[in-house]
Amino acid sequence: MGEEAERLVLDVLRSGQLAQGPLVARFEEAFADLVGTRHAVAVSNGTVALVAALEATGVGPGDEVVTSPFTFAATLNAVLQVGATARFADLADGGFLVDPEAVEAAVTGRTRAVLPVHLYGLPADMPRLVETASRRGLVVVEGAAQAHGATVGGRAAGSFGVGCFSFYATKNVALGEGGMVTTDDDELADRLRVLRNQGMRGRYEYEVPGHNYRMTDLQAALGLPQIPDLPRPTSAAVITPPCSPRGSPTSRGS
Ligand SMILES: Cc1ncc(COP(=O)(O)O)c(C=O)c1O
Repeated sequence: MGEEAERLVLDVLRSGQLAQGPLVARFEEAFADLVGTRHAVAVSNGTVALVAALEATGVGPGDEVVTSPFTFAATLNAVLQVGATARFADLADGGFLVDPEAVEAAVTGRTRAVLPVHLYGLPADMPRLVETASRRGLVVVEGAAQAHGATVGGRAAGSFGVGCFSFYATKNVALGEGGMVTTDDDELADRLRVLRNQGMRGRYEYEVPGHNYRMTDLQAALGLPQIPDLPRPTSAAVITPPCSPRGSPTSRGS
């Protein structure tokens, strides 16, 4: 951590606002700008980023999520946490990333989402996966915990579907703990913000059952100075797969 992080941490300590404050908002803005999405929603870690993304896109009991068999346990724990079932699609030959053809073959009538994982900074074949998901009416959640600054065809990992990043101590943006969900979908971002704060929209106005997935300003103070060091994507986000919950106009089957 450099001097800028030290200065920002001291600013937070003196500001009197330790959690979900102005620095978290600045960090979200900087991260959305990096990934090229309209929104970035900060959360407490990468595991809950996945849980919140699945929950906010309407993935739940009875649904299947097609994902990689080669990943960190958090991917599966998040699927189980929302009550869904994981179906594994095998890896592309000679690599660490899920094979789009195997994903297509694993889709059943119960599949609600695909969850490719970008491992070791190597992004999965997102154009093909998004094409499959769009054709089959599936949500795309990207396991981007290890892919800050990674790009596919000049476009950032985390901008193809709902991006889920981790800022755990060993990640290439490291805050100790922390996570981020990226999306272009205004309604989804709004649901995520409500979900992460106990389901509360206005002060003590509880709209839905929620969680405490908030980030602290101390974490954001460590994160902000790390963003300019990352490579920037050269191409903007253009493909937006469906990610609205069941029953809304863009949900599966409509
Ligand atoms: C691929 C992958 N998914 C999810 C996570 C979970 O992130 P966190 O440890 O911040 O909960 C990690 C990192 O730990 C990871 O490497």
